[in-house]
Amino acid sequence: MTEPRTLLNAEHIHKTYSGKAEPVQVLRGVNLILEENSYSVITGSSGSGKSTLLHVLGGLDRPDEGSVRFKGRLLTELNDEDLAAFRNKSIGFIFQFHHLLPEFTALENVFMPALIAGKRMKEIQERASYLLEEIGLKDRMDHRPAELSGGEQQRVAVARALMNEPELILADEPTGNLDEKNSENLIRILLELKEKEKTAIVLITHDQQIAETTRNRYRLVNGTLDSYTN
Ligand SMILES: Nc1ncnc2c1ncn2[C@@H]1O[C@H](COP(=O)(O)OP(=O)(O)OP(=O)(O)O)[C@@H](O)[C@H]1O
Ligand SMILES: [Mg+2]
Repeated sequence: MTEPRTLLNAEHIHKTYSGKAEPVQVLRGVNLILEENSYSVITGSSGSGKSTLLHVLGGLDRPDEGSVRFKGRLLTELNDEDLAAFRNKSIGFIFQFHHLLPEFTALENVFMPALIAGKRMKEIQERASYLLEEIGLKDRMDHRPAELSGGEQQRVAVARALMNEPELILADEPTGNLDEKNSENLIRILLELKEKEKTAIVLITHDQQIAETTRNRYRLVNGTLDSYTN
């Protein structure tokens, strides 16, 4: 057995939203260590700061205090351009709403992150077709999002997140809009692909049944993250 290696180390993360309204102190000293190829779930009540935390972990947002290291690299010190390149290469995001581009086909939506990364078209096409086959949508590759069911749209979002072979998938209630059968199906596909691709996952969910699919469970309460086992 090889020793598990640290993929991400977030220390002492603080985040307060201060706009015109009263400031909202959301994260108050969150610490989290993720190992390579690990699978963690974060739960917490609505408004507890789960999405905020996920955005900070993936470099979509910056903390007010604290550090996020990804394989030792300090994300919190990267400029916007380097941070965008980092996200494109290393992180796959999946959200509750699929955020697929309506004017593009399923295939084009899946390969968009690789196009942005400037990869070669032949490689891009091959990888996107492979992923569409893996998610069971090879025969829907020319459909636009409006011509796909909700479950199918979300599966396309999974394939898109995996396109650039990220080391970390950050999924924010990816089954929030799906019925039970589609939720189970999506989680199964996500975890199967996770194993094949050897990527780590952090999944935010309200669904206790989904939370129980891993032993690495965390709950966000009062701005801090607690590990729990039941
Ligand atoms: N841009 C913002 N400006 C001001 N307040 C914000 C902003 N974004 C989020 N908040 C507030 O911060 C808190 C945490 O929001 P966040 O979206 O992280 O919660 P969440 O745990 O993901 O909730 P949910 O389960 O409903 O998705 C909420 O009280 C929210 O109102
Ligand atoms: Mg949220």
